[in-house]
Amino acid sequence: MSLRVLTGIKPTGVPHLGNYVGAIRPAVVASTLPGAESFFFLADYHALISTQDPVRVQRSTLEIAASWIACGLDPDQVAFYRQSDIPETTELTWLLTCVAGKGLLNRAHAYKAAVDRNRAEGMDEDAGVTAGLYMYPVLMAADILLFNAHRVPVGRDQVQHIEMARDFAQRFNHLYGEHFTLPEAAIEEQVATLPGLDGRKMSKSYDNVIPLFAPREELRRLVFSILTDSRLPGEPKDTEGSALFQLYQAFASAGETEAMRRAFADGIAWSEAKTQLFERIDAELAPLRERYQALVADPAGIERVLRRGGERLRDAHARPFLARLREAVGLRDLSLAPGRDAQAGDVEAKPALPVFKQYREADGRFHFKLVDGDRLLLQGDGFESPRDAGRVVAMLRSGAAAPRVDAAGRVWLDDAAVGVLGEGVDDDALLRALDRFAEDAA
Ligand code: TRP
Repeated sequence: MSLRVLTGIKPTGVPHLGNYVGAIRPAVVASTLPGAESFFFLADYHALISTQDPVRVQRSTLEIAASWIACGLDPDQVAFYRQSDIPETTELTWLLTCVAGKGLLNRAHAYKAAVDRNRAEGMDEDAGVTAGLYMYPVLMAADILLFNAHRVPVGRDQVQHIEMARDFAQRFNHLYGEHFTLPEAAIEEQVATLPGLDGRKMSKSYDNVIPLFAPREELRRLVFSILTDSRLPGEPKDTEGSALFQLYQAFASAGETEAMRRAFADGIAWSEAKTQLFERIDAELAPLRERYQALVADPAGIERVLRRGGERLRDAHARPFLARLREAVGLRDLSLAPGRDAQAGDVEAKPALPVFKQYREADGRFHFKLVDGDRLLLQGDGFESPRDAGRVVAMLRSGAAAPRVDAAGRVWLDDAAVGVLGEGVDDDALLRALDRFAEDAA
């Protein structure tokens, strides 16, 4: 199975250059690389938590969908869909809600911040806090777990949500068998933060943004309003700390950036530097702007694209997966109830599968074990990263690589030792347990 990378996009207004450079452009590039399956969706259920203006939800969904397509996201190459077109998301949210620790949700940053604000103002703790805000992390976990995504690229502020998703998945797996992949946050450390017009980070809350699809003349005006110092033409200028230079760098090749660095040292006039910056940005954005205008002018076209993306995923993944999960938790066809005389064609209730558990030890390493009921079948070694441990678990589960057991009870995959048999377990018992995963999948 290839690596599944999943990203949720909250539909809130038209993006600005900072969103483009920091998030959209790198994600679109990554989605074209081989070896990964990309899922992008518009998190419109999530939008309802922060806005109760229906027209705004609709408009933002259109604009954000059009923005991503205009920036090169290819809906035929990636899964591109609208969260609310996959109602299995909400059904899974409920299944996860019933294993989610309330105490864990109490500690979610967004909820805690709201409570802290209320306390500071001497109000009731939960004043104005909806259960939607409180449940935000569970809905987000459902987005991720529904497609068994391996990796979720997010900013630092979202890491806690991914850890919660892992927690819910683990609890569910523990209770009902291995259904969910434990997702990992891919934190975008080196993502460029772009300076805004005033030199601070470009952000709507600072009112210093350049809208991504600003018409050419507005773009020119905004670029010319970028804050610079008062050095005159001919005076050498600092690239360090120059918003203008950083913006240029985000759009220029290495060679062009070097030339601009020299021009700064040689005392280029600010107006000339701004002209060059403006032309450089416009060269990249003009075709995107044109595509964007065409796309928003055809909402029915965007609607079709999103529906098609959603339907494909429902058929291929969401519906069958939810059917399996319903069965696992006991939302079952009563005519197949255990205890009734089995008839031809009836499905027998299967005994619970052995379970792989992954966890982190005090030594900081990532371990796994395979247990069948109370019995420890295999104690895995510690690995550097959860991904390494996950890979071994996936190999063992898939039956793709047959493990070998040596005389000392160590378990090997190819030529790597991965763990040791549990007390009193022989290699036969281990292999039989692993076979059950393959039978279950068949
Ligand atoms: N919470 C994310 C944000 O604010 C958006 C989001 C919703 C998301 N569901 C997700 C991101 C699932 C990644 C995976 O940006």
